[in-house]
Amino acid sequence: MYKIFETVDEVSRYTAQRLLDTILAKPEAVLGLATGGTMEPVYAQLVGMLEQSAVDLSRLTTFNLDEYIGLSASHAQSYRYYMGQHLFDRLSLPRESVHLPDGNAEDVDAACRAYSTAIQAAGGLDLQLLGIGSNGHIGFNEPHTDFSCRTHVIALSEQTRRDNGRFFSDQSEVPTHALTLGIQDILEAEEIMLVATGSKKAAIMAELYHGGVDEALPASALKQHHNVTIVMDSQAAALLPRQEEGGAA
Ligand code: F6R
Repeated sequence: MYKIFETVDEVSRYTAQRLLDTILAKPEAVLGLATGGTMEPVYAQLVGMLEQSAVDLSRLTTFNLDEYIGLSASHAQSYRYYMGQHLFDRLSLPRESVHLPDGNAEDVDAACRAYSTAIQAAGGLDLQLLGIGSNGHIGFNEPHTDFSCRTHVIALSEQTRRDNGRFFSDQSEVPTHALTLGIQDILEAEEIMLVATGSKKAAIMAELYHGGVDEALPASALKQHHNVTIVMDSQAAALLPRQEEGGAA
């Protein structure tokens, strides 16, 4: 299903409301969370909604999608830091309920295996929130990642490193590798929401809309899932057929 709104604000409110509805319907829900610029206004909305509704978060569990390798948890661009800043430090969520891949693990392969296992042990993801890279990556599953992969180490593509360079003071500081949930883990979520905003996502969203399932476009794996909502603003949807606007497909 495609949901297209005019503004980023509307996209963020809709997405945050869907997250809140999931928590209200199932207080022990397991949420898969994403980072990046797209999610900043989503989390700002969610924090506001949670403050107003005084929801009990004590039984909630979260697993983040990915983390850079080699950045300390206190590094301003680590995803652990990002999540603290935008969400976790602003909510009364038990710290032991919050999970991110460990980009500083001594044995990263063991850490990857343990991460996918921990999600399964928690009962699986009820809702996976995703952004999308300008090259179609989801999590950090770059083009041509095997769709059967579980949590794994990935070499970031030059396009992704360039895109994310905007968050670092110098391009050379952008890590070259990351840990990411695999496509297989993502597809096992009960429900998936992919959010895309801004004109830089227009070309890849059109490619995703028109194309088939293809490992060259990681987000196309979502076409194999039965419960996916793709939420866009008018800029990200600019190259989609007009009849999709405001409606479902
Ligand atoms: C982040 C993640 C990535 C981002 C994607 C878009 O946890 O998994 O797939 O969602 O790179 O990033 P932004 O939102 O910064 O354009």
